[in-house]
Amino acid sequence: MALEVKVAFLLPLFMIVMLSLGSDSHTLSERFRSPAIRVVSNETTKKAPDVAAEVGRYEDVAKRIIELAVFGAAQNRSYRRLADFTDTIGNRVSGSRNLEMAIKYMYTAMKQDGLDVHLEPVKIPHWVRGKESAEMIMPRAKSLAILGLGSSVGTPPEGVEAEVLVVQSFEELKRRASEATGRIVVFNQPFISYSETVAYRAFGASEAAKVGAVATLIRSVTPFSINSPHTGLQIYQDGVKRIPTACITVEDAELMWRLAQNKQKIVVRLIMGAQTLPDADSFNTVAEIRGWQHPEQVVLLSGHLDSWDVGQGAMDDGGGVMISWEALSLIKDLGLRPRRTLRAVLWTGEEQGGVGAQQYFNLHKENISNFDLVMESDLGTFTPMGLQFLGSEAARKVMEEVIKLLAPINVTKLETDAEGTDIFLWMQAGIPGASLHVADSRYFWFHHSEGDTMTVQDPHDMDLCSALWAVVAYVVADLEDMLARRP
Ligand SMILES: *[C@@H]1O[C@H](CO)[C@@H](O)[C@H](O)[C@H]1NC(C)=O
Ligand SMILES: *[C@@H]1O[C@H](CO)[C@@H](O)[C@H](O)[C@H]1NC(C)=O
Ligand SMILES: *[C@@H]1O[C@H](CO)[C@@H](O)[C@H](O)[C@H]1NC(C)=O
Ligand SMILES: *[C@@H]1O[C@H](CO)[C@@H](O)[C@H](O)[C@H]1NC(C)=O
Ligand SMILES: [Zn+2]
Repeated sequence: MALEVKVAFLLPLFMIVMLSLGSDSHTLSERFRSPAIRVVSNETTKKAPDVAAEVGRYEDVAKRIIELAVFGAAQNRSYRRLADFTDTIGNRVSGSRNLEMAIKYMYTAMKQDGLDVHLEPVKIPHWVRGKESAEMIMPRAKSLAILGLGSSVGTPPEGVEAEVLVVQSFEELKRRASEATGRIVVFNQPFISYSETVAYRAFGASEAAKVGAVATLIRSVTPFSINSPHTGLQIYQDGVKRIPTACITVEDAELMWRLAQNKQKIVVRLIMGAQTLPDADSFNTVAEIRGWQHPEQVVLLSGHLDSWDVGQGAMDDGGGVMISWEALSLIKDLGLRPRRTLRAVLWTGEEQGGVGAQQYFNLHKENISNFDLVMESDLGTFTPMGLQFLGSEAARKVMEEVIKLLAPINVTKLETDAEGTDIFLWMQAGIPGASLHVADSRYFWFHHSEGDTMTVQDPHDMDLCSALWAVVAYVVADLEDMLARRP
């Protein structure tokens, strides 16, 4: 999904800085639209016909990968793997026992699959939701479906009971600041796009606290709802009082908005047992097929293993994890071994702001000259539409040829911009990056909610995504030269 981010026009500077520090997935691509890192390069290692000829020689191998993944013995395999994994483990929030089990599960499964697997330690945040509930008391009694937001503080045990102020925007909150003191602020912001609207979830609590609110309830960031709350990370601003914050459903936000328009007094009681425990031990899980010629050079493909503590985390990001593993399996099953190392990294702590990815970058940046391409799938594994790519012009010319190899599965588009919390740092440092673009109109329907289950996944779509992922990773890892990076 092309996320039309207009964050820069909406947010004060501190917010942009925080977003760019990796506070949330899908908001970071904005960085790459800034002129500061616009791609310019006059590096051209090969002439266009030579590039086309070299990449063209992979047509047969691409067909074999596609055949195996989509029609052959590996048909439905990534879906079956995902189902077994998420049905066995369930969701796996940062710091949880489930996440530990998930890492053990994937470590064992990928080892049994014959891959080189190892774990790299990471300290990750450990936030627990505890028991939580909310009830509208006036003008009538109604329970509200809520999900506390990641990193929120809890309420006192008896809860917070206060009159509600409903606003539709940060601007309205500022205008009505004098009415906010001692209130629970309800944000009923319309859904524009995820990357724009997520600012309310991320920063609503601190903005409300600045004008004296005692808690915030934030309309879930989704274009579609059947009374489903959608959680996610929120970020307290330094020096601002930390107030409890939860998301409510689109339906309840609109209900309270209508009541407020009719001058009804609304009172809500919110109880949240949320707390942040000491950081927990975790791991990035790494599986490899070592390159035969340049084993130190790497094409990295990835998804994140952690999820929120609702649903099954099948879509976000079990799918990305499974196609990254599957890509290696397909290549191995065909007896292929590229010049460079193919490395699948299953990140930990992504939902907490790309914590595992940050640690990985810190550790491995000493070898940055050996990173050829970084890939991430974290916007769903529905029907693939194209590959998003960020890199030098010379690298783009190569990738334009690579994407042609996917014509048999009807994926022919090489798009601009790649995104993903976990590959952001590498791309910022000039390494070519690619992300999977799928027909994801439904992605934010289920995102971070109880609705993120196996039921939204489709085996054929996952086969297509796996084939795409495997062809791109294999061919780039096997070309004579590494992709030209940005100067
Ligand atoms: C473009 O190429 C020239 C000649 O090879 C080189 O001196 C110059 O630094 C290059 N510029 C960039 C932006 O890479
Ligand atoms: C894959 O799943 C589809 C239905 O979703 C089924 O028709 C097909 O037989 C399955 N193929 C294999 C090899 O299990
Ligand atoms: C960096 O590369 C060198 C040479 O391949 C290797 O010995 C070293 O372990 C690498 N460092 C990390 C952190 O992976
Ligand atoms: C690609 O598109 C053609 C024409 O619409 C269709 O017949 C074919 O089944 C598609 N291939 C795949 C793998 O979906
Ligand atoms: Zn995700």
